[in-house]
Amino acid sequence: MIIDEKEFIENTVKSIKDTVKDDKVIIALSGGVDSSVASVLASSAIGDQLEAIFVDHGLLRKNEVEYVRDTFNDKLNLTIIDASDKFVNALNGVTDPEKKREIIGHTFIEVFEKHAKKSGAKFLLQGTIAPDWIESEGNIKSHHNLTLPDGLELKIIEPLRELYKDEVRVIGSALGLPDTIVHRQPFPGPGLAVRVLGDITKEKLRICREADHILTQNVEKRGLDKDLWQYFTVLTNCKVTGVKGDIRDVGYLLVLRMVQSLDAMTANIPDLPWDFLHDVSQQITSEVPEITHVSLSISDKPPSTIEFE
Ligand code: XMP
Repeated sequence: MIIDEKEFIENTVKSIKDTVKDDKVIIALSGGVDSSVASVLASSAIGDQLEAIFVDHGLLRKNEVEYVRDTFNDKLNLTIIDASDKFVNALNGVTDPEKKREIIGHTFIEVFEKHAKKSGAKFLLQGTIAPDWIESEGNIKSHHNLTLPDGLELKIIEPLRELYKDEVRVIGSALGLPDTIVHRQPFPGPGLAVRVLGDITKEKLRICREADHILTQNVEKRGLDKDLWQYFTVLTNCKVTGVKGDIRDVGYLLVLRMVQSLDAMTANIPDLPWDFLHDVSQQITSEVPEITHVSLSISDKPPSTIEFE
């Protein structure tokens, strides 16, 4: 940690108050560490002048909306917008990952902008951290949360811009946020759209979501989450043969991806208990019958990226 957390919080709170004065501020809260810490930090400076908007794009993990509602209802001035049909319809038939990101980014801005206009806000708070803009400048992948809303005259506030993830976590803890938020694994803005490979359907999203939930529960039950940067499932487009009773059956090939990392710039594959992997595979194939085969990703970053798309 290159910064002193108390000093950082004091200076940032003062700077937000000085900048914002009596105006309203909005933030697109994703429920991840960065936007959560940015929201609570700003809220400690300006209270309900900050409105946190959570957009349900239908590409979320299981129980995510409930998690956000339960976690932030008493901490933030929170608005939840259900736009899931709009996003899933806009993605219909789209297979190219960057096209998916573009559509999600545009749809997100459209939904957010509509609400922002109604709110009368003058400022947009963003949870941007250093790797977001460093990777974007290097043009590795487009991150939709860096795109400025079109036609919306909002001044941007990015209090975490110079920080890396581990530093954001320290600030979150110093603000009194619980470990469930501070150590929450990152989740990409485009959500399950980049973890359901190829075209997106509600059915494929459901299958990926159920499998992901089983992996998550097992990782957390074993306490493995403390050692992992991200752990998730990827639903491939590959159909493979399985057997149910005496009958051959065709289903999806699912990939488990679990990585260690400090800042997502590089990542490596940890040793994982074999019985844990076997339990996860058995539970997934028995509780999600559309999946006939579970495999494990063992590629570091580089040469792979963390996400599959
Ligand atoms: P990659 O796959 O590039 O991911 O190794 C690095 C980190 O960024 C996340 N990620 C994204 N986050 N929008 C986001 O907000 C995106 O389009 C996106 N793509 C990847 C990924 O989960 C990992 O933490």
